[in-house]
Amino acid sequence: MSSLANKQILLGVTGGIAAYKSADLVRRLQDAGASVQVVMTPAAQEFITPLTMQALSGYPVHTQLLDPEAEAGMGHIQLARWADLVLIAPATADFMARLSQGMGNDLLTSICLATAAPIALVPAMNQGMWRNAATQANLDILIDRKIHIFGPADGGQACGDIGPGRMLEPLQIIALTSQLFTTGSLAGKKVVITAGPTREAIDPVRYISNYSSGKMGYALVQAAIEAGAQTVLISGPTQLAKPARAKCIDVTTAEEMYAASLQEAQDCDLFIAAAAVADYRPTELAPQKLKKGDSESITLTLIKNPDIVASVAALERKPFTVGFAAESEQLINYARAKLERKNLDLVIANNIAENHIGFNSDDNAVTVIDKNSTVEISQRSKQQLARELIACFAQKLASQL
Ligand code: PMT
Repeated sequence: MSSLANKQILLGVTGGIAAYKSADLVRRLQDAGASVQVVMTPAAQEFITPLTMQALSGYPVHTQLLDPEAEAGMGHIQLARWADLVLIAPATADFMARLSQGMGNDLLTSICLATAAPIALVPAMNQGMWRNAATQANLDILIDRKIHIFGPADGGQACGDIGPGRMLEPLQIIALTSQLFTTGSLAGKKVVITAGPTREAIDPVRYISNYSSGKMGYALVQAAIEAGAQTVLISGPTQLAKPARAKCIDVTTAEEMYAASLQEAQDCDLFIAAAAVADYRPTELAPQKLKKGDSESITLTLIKNPDIVASVAALERKPFTVGFAAESEQLINYARAKLERKNLDLVIANNIAENHIGFNSDDNAVTVIDKNSTVEISQRSKQQLARELIACFAQKLASQL
């Protein structure tokens, strides 16, 4: 899995003949899983049209600092915030000069000043311009400011000269860009997380469900994204906002969650079952609303739902599989029994007898159980706990390889 998966790359294109390669670069970045928005300087538009870049990137191309329409929608500050990386390819001598002096006289330099994201330049220019003392002094300033410089390559140039100043090829740029994102503990890994409750319909207006809010699962999704994973959330019905950088699949029933999980788990590295899945569903769905009859009681016949996490753990290419165990008594015994019965790598035991942790609370306290050990994690916010759990899963996953 590419470490560029889910990354948001702002590609700046400045005015050099190598701008034609930027079109290919957009495609290659997308192939690696990144979203790409393009900003072009006026000079870049002399070499390649914004329409080409718009068609390739799937986003409108940004060209002007003082464009009232753009400022109302996605202004330079929003673009600066959107980017996980500002990648400028090609970067001309003029652009390097302006950037090194902290100028903000066009959209691209303003974004560079405003962004908190890393910036990478891919210089492209005539060899004499590259070797010029002014360009080299500007380069030193940019390197001092921790701006990444990719290339340039040495060789034949469009003008007939031979020497340093050729822009790197798109695949070389992709390799260097990927390296910038390989720091997270789950970089390059695919993580699938189930969250929330399932609902099992009785009739058109009634269902069987539970009190899961989805908070624990969604916090794990956020932590997995922060750790650099390509993250898939399979969620039952919740009131929570969907995390921006995950692939989100909405389901209602256990059977739907089962189908989505088995599909997504085929090529995943880590599967986390935080959902509270209904173990049983009504054998039949009444086509019309059930009417209150004369009888003092009615009988609902239930049938077992498929066990999602156990089925994932039974896959031929089994991911590292983590289950949760919500228990109101004999926490460790019952959780350990689930670890064994479902063939899990880890189980996170939740004591739901205490009402300030577990279902629908903002905090949780758990016990992490594997074949050989039992580690307690005391009460803390679900967000903080999720980060610690993800770090623990990443470490165990790495030690398995
Ligand atoms: O959503 P919140 O409000 O934040 O609450 C979090 C939580 C308490 C729901 C969560 O942390 C939790 O404990 N989830 C699992 C609850 C549960 O259903 O446990 P269980 O003991 O019934 O199931 C054991 C494991 O098997 C779980 O990983 C469950 O997702 C999985 N399972 C269960 C049944 C089934 N048919 N398929 C499954 O995959």
